Amino acid sequence: MRIKISLLAATALAGAVWTAPVLAQTITGKVSAPGEASMEGVVVSAKKGIVTVSVVSNEKGEFSFPAGKIGAGDYALSVRAVGYNLEGPKTVSVAADKPAVLDVKLVKTRNLASQLTNLEWMMSAPGTDEQKKALTGCTNCHSVERILSSSYNADEFFEVIKRMAQYSNNSFYKKPQIRAEVRDINRFVPNADKVAAYFASINRSEGERTWELKTLPRLTGDSTKVVITEYDLPEQTIQPHDVMVDSDGTTVWHSDFSGQILGRLDTKTLQHKTYPVPLQRQGWPTGALDLEPDPDGNIWMGLMFQHGAAKFDRKTEQFTMIKLPPDLLKADSQQAMVGPQNINVDGKLWMQDPARNGIYRVNLADGKTELFEPFKNSRGGPYSIFSDKQNNIWFLDFGGQNIGKIDAKTGQSSLFPTPTKGSRPRRGRIDADGKIWFAEFGGERVGMFDTKTEKFQEWEVPGKFYAPYDAMTDKNGNVWTGGMNADRVTRINTATGKITEYQLPRYTNIRRIYVDNSQAKPVLWVGNNHGAAIIKVEPQD
Ligand code: HEC
Repeated sequence: MRIKISLLAATALAGAVWTAPVLAQTITGKVSAPGEASMEGVVVSAKKGIVTVSVVSNEKGEFSFPAGKIGAGDYALSVRAVGYNLEGPKTVSVAADKPAVLDVKLVKTRNLASQLTNLEWMMSAPGTDEQKKALTGCTNCHSVERILSSSYNADEFFEVIKRMAQYSNNSFYKKPQIRAEVRDINRFVPNADKVAAYFASINRSEGERTWELKTLPRLTGDSTKVVITEYDLPEQTIQPHDVMVDSDGTTVWHSDFSGQILGRLDTKTLQHKTYPVPLQRQGWPTGALDLEPDPDGNIWMGLMFQHGAAKFDRKTEQFTMIKLPPDLLKADSQQAMVGPQNINVDGKLWMQDPARNGIYRVNLADGKTELFEPFKNSRGGPYSIFSDKQNNIWFLDFGGQNIGKIDAKTGQSSLFPTPTKGSRPRRGRIDADGKIWFAEFGGERVGMFDTKTEKFQEWEVPGKFYAPYDAMTDKNGNVWTGGMNADRVTRINTATGKITEYQLPRYTNIRRIYVDNSQAKPVLWVGNNHGAAIIKVEPQD
């Protein structure tokens, strides 16, 4: 009897293996162009409703959307392959019972300028690296193309830069917000007159462009083994600057850099919910930057020019608001970052403030607030902050090249310079072993600082002007980063140094990245800060 059953089971299994054509809906196909029978590294996207799924063609030019990512229905097709446009097909209907097979034809584009990433513009433009780096201060809010397609002369450009200095950091081209206090032009753009003259020498003020547009080669090999899903947000002006994902792997929380909300996207039901954050300062620019969990799972937000912080209680869905005391509040007070990670140690919350080039510590019981100024006697400025298990605060010196610490007990600050000079550490985190992982925005590297041994390790990111913004590790020993100018995310194996880049399907102003380590395979999430979308990157290896 027993034998019979197991024999039956074995037969059934063998049957399943040998007879199963994949019946789930999917799209497969091949990419070619005149004179190129097969094209590798072309990002092929299929969009239905608010969801766009993208895959990348392999060395044979073939691509395949995995079953389960595509349902029956009508899809709009698009591609990203710099130098090429999609000739067709531009739509596909997927039936419920068989895969759609496509012959995707590309043609050379006649408008290359509209396809370049910010990194490619910077690579192409004449000038020294130092001159070109000034453009990286502009790409916070819009593309380089917008600047280089203008026809201002040097004097006019100086006036344009002055106009830009009026906008709050959390503005972008679709939503200007005026600062309560104009930014010091020298802090915004050092040597603004020289920079204006340089920009006027590479734009169209003296006629059409005479220099050649250079492009990066398409990605190949392991970089093609990926599925990318983009979820459009309901308003074009929502800026999902920071994202965080629950351990269910489907609930995404995001800040809105210029809107006074906390957003929640359920990627299963595609429902988007916004929680309005109370205004703290009537008439000041709205929006939040940093999104951080505390030990009880509450979500904290750094409220930028609204000042202070907001704590969101998931159970009650209510906010608790933290304000700066009147004697510390300035016209340009700006809490980009909050450090609530170990708030339960002593009941104290850390907040950063570029307006004072310092860091506050708020006693939540009585609101008493202390100011620490680690750069009182040296150059630099704290950006990201995160606390360790003793609720000491660690900070990244975006204004310079240090990892810093303020000791919770003594109030003393210490600075640890990165091996790379001018590294401008921007965003990062401290892991459970006390290792700080961070992106060197100015150093084109990802760094690790071991707070126990006080030793650094660094890995170069692929290419100049990449502008890595943030870093986070996954459970497989990789560190991830995203290039603010590159529209690419990168996975670096910290043991072997192997780099795998992934091309995102469209112009993406990349900021905070988030690796969800609670799934079988790590999944990377990032917001498109200028494109109102949440992006999920799933490597297939
Ligand atoms: C804080 C956000 C922000 C930054 C940083 C910024 N811009 Fe802008 N920029 C905007 C906004 C908003 C617009 C659209 C409204 C406008 O034209 O004033 C814009 C538009 C432009 C335009 C197109 C409009 C025109 O007048 O031709 C140019 C050129 C430009 N910016 C140049 C620059 C340069 C150069 C820099 C870097 C030094 C820069 N921007 C940095 C926000 C910014």
